[in-house]
Amino acid sequence: MHEDTLGLTGLSKSLPGGRKLFEGLDLVLRPGEHVAIMGESGVGKSTLLNIVAGLDTADEGDVVVAGVSLNGLSEAARTALRRDRIGFVFQAFHVLPHLDLAQNVAFPLILQRASRTAALARAGVLLDAVGLGDRLRSYPKELSGGELQRVAIARALVHEPALILADEPTGNLDPDTAKQIIALLARSVKERGSAMLLVTHSPTAAATADRQLLLSRQGLVPAHG
Ligand SMILES: Nc1ncnc2c1ncn2[C@@H]1O[C@H](COP(=O)(O)OP(=O)(O)OP(=O)(O)O)[C@@H](O)[C@H]1O
Ligand SMILES: [Mg+2]
Repeated sequence: MHEDTLGLTGLSKSLPGGRKLFEGLDLVLRPGEHVAIMGESGVGKSTLLNIVAGLDTADEGDVVVAGVSLNGLSEAARTALRRDRIGFVFQAFHVLPHLDLAQNVAFPLILQRASRTAALARAGVLLDAVGLGDRLRSYPKELSGGELQRVAIARALVHEPALILADEPTGNLDPDTAKQIIALLARSVKERGSAMLLVTHSPTAAATADRQLLLSRQGLVPAHG
């Protein structure tokens, strides 16, 4: 009964100017699987995550999330799938400046029409888990880059998504905090049987994954060392 959480088949993407980022890229993520993607700056890692989330489109190929093909979906259906099934930690945090931290983290649940009280309570639990339990009423402008990154991680996990997409989620964190955050993400994946694609430049973070892949023009290949 366990379908794959994510299936990528034959994905190709070129930039508007014509430069080819990748071609014929295939990947399967099963429930509970945690895969790290590495690769040099500009190779297309963020572009790939955006395509998986339906925020960008490939030139060829298909993305299947929890059994649903993105190719066949309307824009509205794609948005609903992203809202319900995906948690995205963006490379640039994308927190909402006019909402306090609890409201920011509760936002995915509010979009799913959860009760405000329940959503804020759950947001408090997640903020506590990333070490910001005493900052619920703070606003993003009062936070450091590393603290904002932790808010973004709490928000990506709050609705227990089937698929977690994390783009360099520890880039702004000191080594100890980074280790804790990666452990929290990895634990969420294993406990809930969700799957995670983790883009990282950190060999330490990548080492926690079940598989390490390198993005290149040829697609995803096993990373060595
Ligand atoms: N809208 C756009 N128009 C043209 N080129 C773009 C656009 N967005 C991204 N690019 C280019 O696409 C390439 C891949 O970008 P992407 O952000 O996916 O790289 P990345 O692997 O995530 O890099 P990094 O490790 O620095 O985050 C880069 O060369 C970038 O300049
Ligand atoms: Mg990037």
